[in-house]
Amino acid sequence: MTDAWNPALYERFKHERAQPARDLIALVQPRPGMHVVDLGCGTGEITAELHAHLGAASTVGIDRSTAMLAQARPREAPGLTFAETDIAGFAPEAGIDLVYSNAALQWVEDHPAQLARVRRWLSPGGQVAIQVPCADDHPTHTVVFELAERYGTGSLYHGARRVLTPAAYAALLFKLGFKEQQVFTRVYGHVLPDLDALVTFFSSTLLNPYKAALGDERFGEFLQDYRDELAKHLGEPKPLFFPMARTLMWGRI
Ligand SMILES: C[S@@+](CC[C@H](N)C(=O)[O-])C[C@H]1O[C@@H](n2cnc3c(N)ncnc32)[C@H](O)[C@@H]1O
Repeated sequence: MTDAWNPALYERFKHERAQPARDLIALVQPRPGMHVVDLGCGTGEITAELHAHLGAASTVGIDRSTAMLAQARPREAPGLTFAETDIAGFAPEAGIDLVYSNAALQWVEDHPAQLARVRRWLSPGGQVAIQVPCADDHPTHTVVFELAERYGTGSLYHGARRVLTPAAYAALLFKLGFKEQQVFTRVYGHVLPDLDALVTFFSSTLLNPYKAALGDERFGEFLQDYRDELAKHLGEPKPLFFPMARTLMWGRI
């Protein structure tokens, strides 16, 4: 499918984006011969790292972005495969030992229903490890929501409706039968060179659906307005400190 994801732009902030993915990997309890799925695997770099770290029997990375998967496919290796499919409609065949998802489920509706589906895929002792950004109250996000109204697209990123509080995820994991769990929010402090770097950071993720909806010319205006409004909130410090809050959760049944 065609999409607005741009791997080259996304990878410009590889270092900043890798730390939460690695923190999430560190929560997983390795077991011999694990069967793993990575929901929203993107370029597959983290998927390959996870596969190697666990010495997994099989790891399947799925994503709906053709452009991101084009980067992932050359990383295929024994036991490591990638498939183009939507998380919402995906159902793995065999019992799964780990469902991993880094920075992707914020794009998927109805987390209680999605987590209930994921729970049904797990074999006894199976684990989930999920990270979602929870920065909806930061100007980087509130400004987008305001501009979405002004540009008539309406909000195309409903993170605030989807992403639950850490306490709600903890209660949900318990309700779904996870006997062990860890849920916490961590703030990743990114020191970026300037405001333009922050705009670039989000133009490869949060702003993707607006790029697709508005077309290049109007999106150019949108991006300029985004920068102007952000400057009102954050000023133009150099370097610019950006605190990005993310919720990490791990559970084992
Ligand atoms: C921020 S990237 C994260 C990529 C990867 N997990 C990582 O940590 O580098 C989010 C990815 O989720 C994918 N995605 C978003 N919604 C999706 C959906 N409904 N089904 C499948 N993939 C989805 C996007 O295409 C994108 O590649």
